[in-house]
Amino acid sequence: MQSDTATPQSPQELAAGLRQAGYLPGASTALVSFLAIKLGKPVLVEGPAGVGKTELAKAIATYLDRTLVRLQCYEGLDEAKALYEWNYRKQLLRIQTESQQAGWENVQDDIFGEEFLLPRPLMTAIASPEPVVLLIDEIDKTDQEFEAMLLELLSDFQISIPELGRIEARTQPVVLLTSNNTRELTEALKRRCLYLWLDYPTLEHELQIVRLHAPELDETVARKLTEIIHQVRELDLKKPPSIAESIDWARTLLLLGAGDIDHTTFTETMSVIVKHRTDLDTVAARVGVALQQADASAA
Ligand SMILES: Nc1ncnc2c1ncn2[C@@H]1O[C@H](COP(=O)(O)OP(=O)(O)OP(=O)(O)O)[C@@H](O)[C@H]1O
Ligand SMILES: [Mg+2]
Repeated sequence: MQSDTATPQSPQELAAGLRQAGYLPGASTALVSFLAIKLGKPVLVEGPAGVGKTELAKAIATYLDRTLVRLQCYEGLDEAKALYEWNYRKQLLRIQTESQQAGWENVQDDIFGEEFLLPRPLMTAIASPEPVVLLIDEIDKTDQEFEAMLLELLSDFQISIPELGRIEARTQPVVLLTSNNTRELTEALKRRCLYLWLDYPTLEHELQIVRLHAPELDETVARKLTEIIHQVRELDLKKPPSIAESIDWARTLLLLGAGDIDHTTFTETMSVIVKHRTDLDTVAARVGVALQQADASAA
């Protein structure tokens, strides 16, 4: 099995590479990703929505210059959609074009060959001649049977197909699994993975991320935006704003040409960062009113 051990040489080097790919990793993100690449172990990335779990996999793929193979998980996802499926139509055609004398034995050997397989993301990642980055996104949406199926793949990087035997990985993929923590994953799965908890970033870190995504936004506005986002997160909300909302808000303010976040601007745009009726009321009452008072005392 080939593995790409040439790059990177340190977590710092990886962090710099990810930054170039447009992703600003925290220290633990850089360290765990570095270990994942070097040790060839999958990483389980958990954390709230919109904190950069999916984006991390994309950035690692860009940095390593590898193809990103993505399996988006959902309830009811099965092997046929995740692993492989037999191409029944092609098999049927093959049987029909076979002469009458060929006999079932011959045809059977033939139609259960690789040529008649439809590879799905997991198989694609395993069989790829070039090493890839495999993203198994939102694994918590699947059930425990699916997780059990993944175990063989994650520990041995191989897949068993009853009619064909074992398919072993030719190259070592970097594997990232993400979870929003909607259900507890099995211990067996966790044991095979490195673990990364991605939380909301610190104020300074988030400010850098916002400035990276909206470089034209004035720095004082960007700072105020980040401070407000952090205040809003302190409130007891159904859905606190994530980095995704901070970035959307920064872009909104840019589009509107806002030079400051005063009470009016805030009330007009707060639905970009808060998306529940009751949360809107809470935020308007707490943060909105504070801004109004600040505006009044500045005037
Ligand atoms: N460290 C970071 N550096 C740069 N951009 C980031 C970072 N973290 C998050 N982002 C940006 O935040 C947005 C949300 O990230 P992403 O979609 O990866 O979140 P997620 O954790 O996968 O969310 P979900 O659980 O909803 O799928 C993206 O636009 C991403 O570019
Ligand atoms: Mg995601």
